[in-house]
Amino acid sequence: MLKLHLHQSQSASPTLFPLSKPFGQGNGGIAVLLAQSVPAPRKSHKNARVGLASRKIKAVASPSTTEKSLSVKAVVTVKPSTAGLFSEIGINRGLDDITDLVGKTLLLELVSAELDAKTGQEKGTIKGYAHKTSQSKEAVIYECEFEVGEEFGEAGAILVENEHHKEMYLKDIVLDGFTSGPLSITCNSWVHSKFDNPQKRVFFTNKCYLPEETPSGLRRLREEELAILRGNGQGERKTYERIYDYDVYNDLGDPDSSADKKRPVLGGKEFPYPRRCRTGRPQCKTDPQSESRSGSIYVPRDEEFSTTKELTFSAKTVYSVVHALVPSLETAIVDTDLGFPFFTSIDELFNEGVNLPPLQKQGFFKDLLPRLIKAVTDTAEDVLRFETPETMNRDRFFWFSDDEFARQTLAGINPCTIQLVTEWPLKSKLDPKVYGPPESAITTEIIEREIKGFMTIDEAVKQKKLFILDYHDLFLPYVNKVRQLKGTTLYGSRTLFFLTPDGTLKPLAIELTRPLSDDGGKPQWKQVFTPSWHSTGKWLWRLAKAHVLAHDSGYHQLVSHWLQTHGATEPYIIAANRQLSTMHPIYKLLHPHFRYTMEINALARGYLVNGDGIIESSFSPGKYSMELSSVAYDKQWQFDLQALPNDLISRGLAVEDPTAPHGLKLAIEDYPFANDGLLLWDTLKEWVTDYVNHYYPDPSRIASDKELQSWWTEIRTVGHGDKKDSPGWPDLKTPSDLIHIITTIVWVASGHHAAVNFGQYTYAGYFPNRPTIARTNMPVEDPKEEELKLFWDKPEVTLLTCFPSQIQATKVMAVLDVLSNHSPDEEYLGQAPEPAWKEEPMIKAAFERFNGRLMELEGVIDARNADPRFKNRNGAGVVPYELLKPFSDPGVTGKGVPYSISI
Ligand SMILES: [Fe+2]
Repeated sequence: MLKLHLHQSQSASPTLFPLSKPFGQGNGGIAVLLAQSVPAPRKSHKNARVGLASRKIKAVASPSTTEKSLSVKAVVTVKPSTAGLFSEIGINRGLDDITDLVGKTLLLELVSAELDAKTGQEKGTIKGYAHKTSQSKEAVIYECEFEVGEEFGEAGAILVENEHHKEMYLKDIVLDGFTSGPLSITCNSWVHSKFDNPQKRVFFTNKCYLPEETPSGLRRLREEELAILRGNGQGERKTYERIYDYDVYNDLGDPDSSADKKRPVLGGKEFPYPRRCRTGRPQCKTDPQSESRSGSIYVPRDEEFSTTKELTFSAKTVYSVVHALVPSLETAIVDTDLGFPFFTSIDELFNEGVNLPPLQKQGFFKDLLPRLIKAVTDTAEDVLRFETPETMNRDRFFWFSDDEFARQTLAGINPCTIQLVTEWPLKSKLDPKVYGPPESAITTEIIEREIKGFMTIDEAVKQKKLFILDYHDLFLPYVNKVRQLKGTTLYGSRTLFFLTPDGTLKPLAIELTRPLSDDGGKPQWKQVFTPSWHSTGKWLWRLAKAHVLAHDSGYHQLVSHWLQTHGATEPYIIAANRQLSTMHPIYKLLHPHFRYTMEINALARGYLVNGDGIIESSFSPGKYSMELSSVAYDKQWQFDLQALPNDLISRGLAVEDPTAPHGLKLAIEDYPFANDGLLLWDTLKEWVTDYVNHYYPDPSRIASDKELQSWWTEIRTVGHGDKKDSPGWPDLKTPSDLIHIITTIVWVASGHHAAVNFGQYTYAGYFPNRPTIARTNMPVEDPKEEELKLFWDKPEVTLLTCFPSQIQATKVMAVLDVLSNHSPDEEYLGQAPEPAWKEEPMIKAAFERFNGRLMELEGVIDARNADPRFKNRNGAGVVPYELLKPFSDPGVTGKGVPYSISI
């Protein structure tokens, strides 16, 4: 039978730590920090109720003797962590181990959902100490029994105090014995040790409540828990904390290590940017505007990848690449400027591989990267050998062809940049005094020569046949700056395409522009290159394509991928945790879409987008890479345009048409990203609609939902505060506003991210198809005799010299390989419902419909890929478009849409 433990004032003498913010009256104990109180065990067969007579946690026991009581058993499931593995890669955060669990307990307190009807006060909690009763590899079980008096009513929450010295991962708590049946409380949360932080944790039952519907006994706890999560904005965050707060991107550089590594602050008037999670690390000594860097970057504890996940989990592989593989490569390839001498030496990366210094000491890292690192048995060395990308497997020469170049603007990994040409002639909007004449050198004559026989330029524009990849006005202001950097160059570029009668795009012309020099001494230079039937023109066209592809690679990685998904989503997550209670239905709807994103973003800030990181060292804009993404945020990003239909309309790729599927008529009918994306968009929207309508049957509830309104206001005015006065922020007054906002957010986290992420190795693994950098100027720009001679004698060498260096190419290939990988326990959209969704019959049914539609989508996409009419998604040697197929096996599969941005 249960041994009771009471916090009685006469025996416990609790030490009180007042919090910085005032809390209301009541029991529950998360408001007031109770420390060093040694509970006095008291044997009794009666359970005791503990009430707080005042906000100073004076516990008053009021044993009930006359009322009927229920015996309720609590079973707590704790997941043992794989601490050993994590300690090897240096991201161990003081994980619990089994030995620490011996003899320790968890203090549990049941909280009644309702106030005392007579007094209007909170009822006393019912305490119990849960002891370990069993353990296996999968779970450690703690149990205790409560006797719950009749007047206690329904339990609405449970308070937990972890008596161990280390944190522990609570999976769930099941309370069995109530007349209404077993009550499940999903935790999935790290509970800190009371020795780190005496604040008790609160876990609410899985039932959702809008704020105004919160059961009376839980209102105070609901508000206080949110206040705890918001924190006070002071001091350096500790690893076990759960505080969600905002900061600017001032941790990308490392000015204390060298002046070259100073980077501007992103976020603010000069360089607008979404906010990141505040860590509170100290300022740099040499630059008070910058935050100092550290090995581990704080993210709220539950945002970290669960250590109970599979060994091959995504972040660990990224971490292994940047921590072990890249340094080894840097040792193996000493000359950082060394390019590939022949195309066959690129092929060797997939055949013989690159010999690496032995990685024995880092065997753990090696084991994480079986696709990349092969042990060589007869030598001491390891070998980095890349898998041949699917594109190369199907067509060895895919990267050289114009049809594939054009097709990838619609079905590749950056299918969201191509636009309709709506005005002719093309003209820059930049200041001519600074950048030179704004008129494009792509003339009517050039285009009509290329589309001869089809139509005139006026007809082409009018009939929506002309499309453009426009990297002119965004890149031109950075050309002179980038050209000051060693080993890189830049142009502004425009690439025009014509939509042929068979629905495919034909590249027509590439214009490369160098602006007026900063001192005005060197004039603007621009030249147009077109496909040619002569060797010189053909090779110049191929070189111009290399530049455009480097622009497209940079834009893809920095804008379509990093900024639009990873960067833009972080403020939604921070705001959700600060403003929406875990019992808010919208919190529960969004939560799976937000999993692991803050952690992967912290990792990216540490090693990928940081000063001198992988992106800066391997992409054309060099140290201006992130600054350029800030310019794109400033000039292009709008919340409403993140919704796929609006995005298509804004790029001229669709017009509204109520009679067409999805209400849109596409300018290019066979546009795989849009065709599959719209189906997925509609599927997401139907699910969100069912969900929102269930919880907001009365539309006026949206406007009166304080948590929801605070969430949306904070996103607009704080997390994306640099854009608060920009257009594109929808109102949040009606269910349809909310449906649109949520659908947009979840589309970005799932569909958009999958479309730009999981095909990266397929399309950029063989880097000539998508070089991340073009290192040399066109040989015809300010031609030098020597360069021209090389071009005439060996154009292939000119192209290889322009391509990334060996170290740049291999580093990027390794990163893209792990970024394109699905872990064995990937969480795909619509696959596993959240526990709370299963408990609500209407939501459970809606989720099943959602899952069914996703399964159907798989079949539709397969059928489209098999249909010869869709020439942009199939053909001889063409990789079918599967990036928006919802499900996938583990590995680099080029398909599968996870719930969230986890890689
Ligand atoms: Fe990503």
